[in-house]
Amino acid sequence: MRIGTISDLHIDRPSDYTETEYAETLASLAEDQHLDVLLIAGDISNDYRKSYQFVQEMKRRINKEVLFIPGNHDYWNVDEKTTHEIHEFFMQQPECLMGHPYIINDEWAIVGNSGWYDYTFASSEYTTERLERRRFKGATWQDKVHVDWGMSDIEVSHKAALMAENDLQKVEDKKIILVTHVVTDPSFRVPMPHRIFNYFNAFIGTSDFQPLFQKYNIRYSLMGHVHFRGETEKDGIEFACVSLGYFREWRTKNIYREMSHALNVIEIS
Ligand SMILES: [Fe+2]
Repeated sequence: MRIGTISDLHIDRPSDYTETEYAETLASLAEDQHLDVLLIAGDISNDYRKSYQFVQEMKRRINKEVLFIPGNHDYWNVDEKTTHEIHEFFMQQPECLMGHPYIINDEWAIVGNSGWYDYTFASSEYTTERLERRRFKGATWQDKVHVDWGMSDIEVSHKAALMAENDLQKVEDKKIILVTHVVTDPSFRVPMPHRIFNYFNAFIGTSDFQPLFQKYNIRYSLMGHVHFRGETEKDGIEFACVSLGYFREWRTKNIYREMSHALNVIEIS
C-alpha cells in the first residue's frame, strides 16, 4: 500500500501551467509512483467549489482513493458563503478526512484535520493583541479578509485539535498517519530572527497537537501551509512538509519535477 501526500497546489495562482495541467501532471505522478491513496493536505485553490472539483477530477483520472483536508485558502469566502457554510460543505464530502479517519488495515489508519494556527510560533516579542491585528509593516494576513470563524484563531485552533482528538480516539488501537494543513512542529516555521516572520510565524502553525503526539500512536505527521519542503524526525515521529507552493517559488519551472519533489510517499506493508 503506497500513500502519497502533497499540499498547497494553489492551482488558481499565476503559473505557466493551466489548472488542467496541474491535474494531468499529478495524475501521471500518482501512476508513476504506483500510489494506492493520494492525500491532498489543503490549499488546492481559493475557491471551495474549484478545490472540491479538483478532488473529484483526480479520482476520475487515477481511479484510486483520493482523500483531502481543506487548507485556509480553501476556506476563503466566495459565492457569499460563510466560513462555517464552507466548512459544512467540506464535512459532507466522503473524500474529506475530517470526522472520518481512513482505515488502511488492522494496523494502520489515516487521521486528517486542517488544524488552525494559534500564534505560538511567533517571536515572543509580540503580544496576542498585537498578533490578533494580523497586520504588520503594511501587510495584512489575508485570512483576516477572507475567513471569518466568528471566534479567535486561538479558539479555532483548540477546536480543531479537539476534533482531531475525537478522530484519533476512533483509531487509537492503530499506528496513525496524521495529516494537517497547518504546521504541527516549530521546526517548520520560517527561521528567526526574520524581519517579518518574527510576526507572521504566528499564522503558520499550532502547538495544540503536541499533547496528541504523546497520547496517540502517531508515526507520521504530514503538513503543508508553509511553502517549503522538508522532513525531520523527533521522538520516533516522522514530520514532513509537502507543499508544492506557488509557481514563482519553484526552483525549476518543471511542474512534474516540482510535484515529485513535494510528494511524500509512505509505503505500508
Ligand atoms: Fe495554507
